[in-house]
Amino acid sequence: MKRNLMLVIAVAGMLFAGKIGYTRVSASMSSNTVAPATTESVESAALQNLQAQEFTQAELERAQKGLTLSPIEVNAGAGRTRVLIGLGSYLVNAVGGCNDCHTNPPFADGGDPFRGEPLKINTANYLAGGVRFGPFTSRNLTPDPQRGNLPAGMRLDEFIRVMRTGADLSNLHPEISPLLQVMPWTVYGQMTDRDLQAIYLFLSVLPRAQPGQ
Ligand code: HEC
Repeated sequence: MKRNLMLVIAVAGMLFAGKIGYTRVSASMSSNTVAPATTESVESAALQNLQAQEFTQAELERAQKGLTLSPIEVNAGAGRTRVLIGLGSYLVNAVGGCNDCHTNPPFADGGDPFRGEPLKINTANYLAGGVRFGPFTSRNLTPDPQRGNLPAGMRLDEFIRVMRTGADLSNLHPEISPLLQVMPWTVYGQMTDRDLQAIYLFLSVLPRAQPGQ
């Protein structure tokens, strides 16, 4: 088990270093036999293991793209964690649109595509909330130093519950609703546990930031 894990970590590292492709991942899925120890068969056995354990080729591609998409350089670690953080960045930056509502303002000076400018995310206030929607204001998603540096001050299980049910753990507007408004938890709540975990991990490696004006 331990050896397999190390292989997985080694191979994931190689994937992200761009040293090998992963087109052979599915080719050897059906074989359970132990491969003879050539470099190539070790690689393909590990890739097989990687997929069986956790990741499809499509996910690995998304993870790699996600790491390049993050507007802030993050320490994504290595191995499985790195893949998850990359996947989380992909879901936040290429799918979820979290920046549009949780970064104030969303774009850097001269980087607003809605004004025909080339996209440049506002990194100084990235995902720190503070965008007003009538009586509601988006919340700070960056790690909270007053709560153990947890993203949005939430443990993973709390984060998943919020994303699935819209529960407002801080209960900031009980007079209107105990549930988060505007926030599209009705959509995000349909994601798999692992996708939500990936988002959580990506948020957890961001620098603490405060909302801009
Ligand atoms: C359409 C705008 C919008 C988008 C897009 C959006 N959010 Fe939100 N989010 C909000 C608003 C507004 C609130 C606060 C709602 C309230 O006060 O009722 C919120 C609240 C939250 C909370 C609760 C935080 C807390 O401290 O209680 C979390 C977690 C969260 N959002 C995560 C995300 C993530 C992750 C994404 C992207 C996958 C995302 N949001 C995308 C508008 C948005």
